[in-house]
Amino acid sequence: MSGEFRVRELVLGIEGLALLRNAVDGDEAFLRERVEDIRRFVSAEYGEEKLPDGGATVSELDAARGYEAWSAVYDSLPSSYIEVEEPVVGRILDGLAPGVALDAACGTGRQTRALVGRGHRVIGVDQSPHMLEKAGERSPQADLRIGHLERLPLDDDSVDLAVCSLAMTHLPDVTPAVAELARVVRPGGRIMVTDMHPFVIALQGQCLFVSGAEELAFVRNHVHLLSHYLEAFAAAGLRVRACHEPLFNGRLAPGGYEEAIGDAARAAWDGLPIVVVWDVEVPAVPAVPAVPSQDGGV
Ligand SMILES: C[S@@+](CC[C@H](N)C(=O)[O-])C[C@H]1O[C@@H](n2cnc3c(N)ncnc32)[C@H](O)[C@@H]1O
Repeated sequence: MSGEFRVRELVLGIEGLALLRNAVDGDEAFLRERVEDIRRFVSAEYGEEKLPDGGATVSELDAARGYEAWSAVYDSLPSSYIEVEEPVVGRILDGLAPGVALDAACGTGRQTRALVGRGHRVIGVDQSPHMLEKAGERSPQADLRIGHLERLPLDDDSVDLAVCSLAMTHLPDVTPAVAELARVVRPGGRIMVTDMHPFVIALQGQCLFVSGAEELAFVRNHVHLLSHYLEAFAAAGLRVRACHEPLFNGRLAPGGYEEAIGDAARAAWDGLPIVVVWDVEVPAVPAVPAVPSQDGGV
């Protein structure tokens, strides 16, 4: 399926979300400004220059083509998601002994570098050779492999730790990928999964990126409710140690479409979690399946 992202509707929606979230206690002048902004966008009083790509629709790319295009600029793009995710991940990693670590969907190797820096022997896996090439330039000591989250090119119980950052959102269902992480991590090992928070994916949907010659594109993000993750972890026999939901920090990526409607965007996301960080372990002794009691309960 190949979709299109309608930028004008996105911008109007964010203005509307700011109104919605301030409908109860919002400042009158702020609310009036939002309504006025919407009127200007709808009546085209705000010209196309106020919208990214002049408000045109933006095309969808699959993960292979999208990250091929994105790899050239990925590391230079500021990201409010990464800004709030990294400190949480860093604190968890600081508490773990060095070992063999998998960076699943490693991309350009952001977490690979964090793991190498903490003394781990790192295997990085990604579906994009272009993203992996960048990872290799920065972490030549890492063992980098082409592969998919749903079929990791690793043996059972072969790593102590697996990290998968900001990639599961591209999968329609997290269950197979969570099962794969559980398969390759040894009993007693740890798994850390970070993802776009379902709030932002449900409300905003997609991240736009420049695909070349200033053209915008997107790779589809899917909503994964926290209950979906809990079901997938339980099905894979994993135990959740903690779930963190870092909040939007008020900073918008410079030059992005949200900056053009900064007041509305900040009010729309204010106080909402934008990322989820799961800290999960593989039980040292596999969980014993519950035995039904005589009256049929468990
Ligand atoms: C937003 S980037 C995140 C990269 C890195 N983990 C980070 O946090 O900086 C998402 C990465 O997931 C990879 N990816 C997407 N779908 C994948 C799949 N099914 N299997 C493996 N990698 C995948 C993409 O190629 C891309 O490198």
